[in-house]
Amino acid sequence: MIDHRTLRVALLGAGSVGSQVARLLLEHADELEERAGARLELAGIAVRDVDAPRDVELPRELLTTDAHELIVGSDIVIELMGGIEPARTHILDALQSGADVVTGNKALLATHGAEIFDAADQVGASVSYEAAVAAAIPIVRPLKDSLAGDFVTRIFGIVNGTTNYILDRMDREGAEFDAVLADAQALGYAEADPTADVEGHDAAQKAAILASLAFHTHVPLERVHCEGITSIDAAAIENAKKAGFVIKLLATCERLPAEGDDEAAISVRVYPALVSREHPLASVHGGNNAVYVEAAAAGPLMFYGAGAGGVETASAILGDVVSAARRHIAGGVGVGESARGDQPIAEIGRITTRYQITLDVTDEQGVLATVAGILSQGGVSVATIEQTVSEQPDGTSRARLVIGTHKARELALSTTVERLAESVVVERVVTVLRVEGD
Ligand code: HSE
Repeated sequence: MIDHRTLRVALLGAGSVGSQVARLLLEHADELEERAGARLELAGIAVRDVDAPRDVELPRELLTTDAHELIVGSDIVIELMGGIEPARTHILDALQSGADVVTGNKALLATHGAEIFDAADQVGASVSYEAAVAAAIPIVRPLKDSLAGDFVTRIFGIVNGTTNYILDRMDREGAEFDAVLADAQALGYAEADPTADVEGHDAAQKAAILASLAFHTHVPLERVHCEGITSIDAAAIENAKKAGFVIKLLATCERLPAEGDDEAAISVRVYPALVSREHPLASVHGGNNAVYVEAAAAGPLMFYGAGAGGVETASAILGDVVSAARRHIAGGVGVGESARGDQPIAEIGRITTRYQITLDVTDEQGVLATVAGILSQGGVSVATIEQTVSEQPDGTSRARLVIGTHKARELALSTTVERLAESVVVERVVTVLRVEGD
């Protein structure tokens, strides 16, 4: 047997992912040693409370509350604490002390990624983060490494399992949002405070990371257009179904070509979108994630699997640890960030797509003509229209119009929707949904 070097591995955090990472490092130590070419010695696990109950029983002598002491002298630091501080400080300290860093902290990378990658560059260390986007699914490395010679044009990602679970059940059962959210919380899919998931913030962080990798540029989180799914009700799901769509919370990253006075740019956006029921993303059910990548030479690629879960996410962490160990032994800087593209990021008004507009209107002669006139004046061309009339308790009748448009610019579309909302014939703009995946 080869006499391998021993690398000291520090683990920060022993929650559902961290405790599984510790278990796998300990249980598979011999096999991981052969794969990494170095003994991966779990030097310690920094936790807030050594007595807290855990999913996995961990050797007590490895637990410490002194993260700083553990970091100093480690070769690889795995950060799984989450949040911004103290995770950011610990990662910067680890890099300064010459360690390679593995993290799953999407919130930190989406907000302080540039600072962390610069710090790593300065000392020639690596920061790996496969687990930060879509957990077990390999997507960071394919974008950073496998597709480094290609030209990614567009990404559509279902990157939040909680919202996919909710929308999928609404689609299958015709259930209302609040009822399914309550179930998702009871089953442990959704957090007690589900804001980050249902408002799209978690997906926006992942979109910023995916777009930065795909387009070799730095995408600050605040430039990601973000809308959540709380306005999606059973009626919206039903209207989508009737028109041949399913509603998915999509993280879309897209290159926009130069057009007129507009220079070439990228668009990064998260919102509930209509996806054709024929599209491969439509068959992503439950809490699963999928990332659909279109590249100039490779064509369409789809990455699919578990987007959350302790042991699933630990798989991505372990992969990064083995790679970091190999790099640590071989030396060199490894595959670094390629964020020098410095590409302009377009406002949402610049995108062009198809839309479905749902309106409640008064059921009177000439109403349809008025609505059609406003759309036409706004430069929005109608592709389909469906009307359902319902009697109101006061004896009047109301019509619901579901209008499918041809492709339109978002700016023209949103101005037109404002005019519709102001019109006396329109009682309410119920939803405006974009179609993606064409
Ligand atoms: N809360 C996330 C989800 C998992 O529901 O997909 C962690 O990113």
